[in-house]
Amino acid sequence: MKPLVVYYSHSGNNEKLALELRDRIGCNMYEIKEKKKRKDISILFDVLTKRNSRLAPLEFDVSGYGPIILLAPIWAGKIAAPMRTFIKMEKDKLTNYSFITLCSGRTGQGEKILAELSSLTPKQPTTVSELWINNLLPEEQRNKIKYATNFRVEKQHMQQFDEQIQFFIEMALHTEKEEALL
Ligand SMILES: Cc1cc2nc3c(=O)[nH]c(=O)nc-3n(C[C@H](O)[C@H](O)[C@H](O)COP(=O)(O)O)c2cc1C
Repeated sequence: MKPLVVYYSHSGNNEKLALELRDRIGCNMYEIKEKKKRKDISILFDVLTKRNSRLAPLEFDVSGYGPIILLAPIWAGKIAAPMRTFIKMEKDKLTNYSFITLCSGRTGQGEKILAELSSLTPKQPTTVSELWINNLLPEEQRNKIKYATNFRVEKQHMQQFDEQIQFFIEMALHTEKEEALL
């Protein structure tokens, strides 16, 4: 089967990462969109209420693909609501998937993301990775919310995550390569 990149991005960072992954893997890519363009304030509201998002109709079917690579921001320690809604909808088709996020970065967050994914889907993700914007900031701006959340990545920043991205891709595609050898 063919790998697929599926992403949600509110302010563009995870879209840049999705493009990078698509180009490196050479696969299709789809964006999860909401029916209405989200306002910043509704991010906090959704985090507090844990409500589902109203997604625009999907223009793809994940069942024709695998492994699936999911990307989304982290909001208050959780996977961004539109991606969470997508995962809930498609959970039975996500038999071989991984998750990666370009987020501010917080110690211990990786375990929480893994636990959230494991509770949303019958299958555990193959691998989970966080790329921390904090690591792109100058020392004096690190761990300060305003600098990390307002940071917009550009293509050249991907170079700084080169090894992490490459390792993630190898892990995410691993099962496919193994199966092809059998
Ligand atoms: C309301 C809000 C809450 C956030 N909470 C977290 C968080 O808990 N952990 C984290 O690492 N990043 C957090 N972030 C940072 C985003 O994950 C980060 O800016 C991300 O790159 C945005 O992705 P996008 O541009 O694809 O939408 C938060 C951002 C916003 C706006």
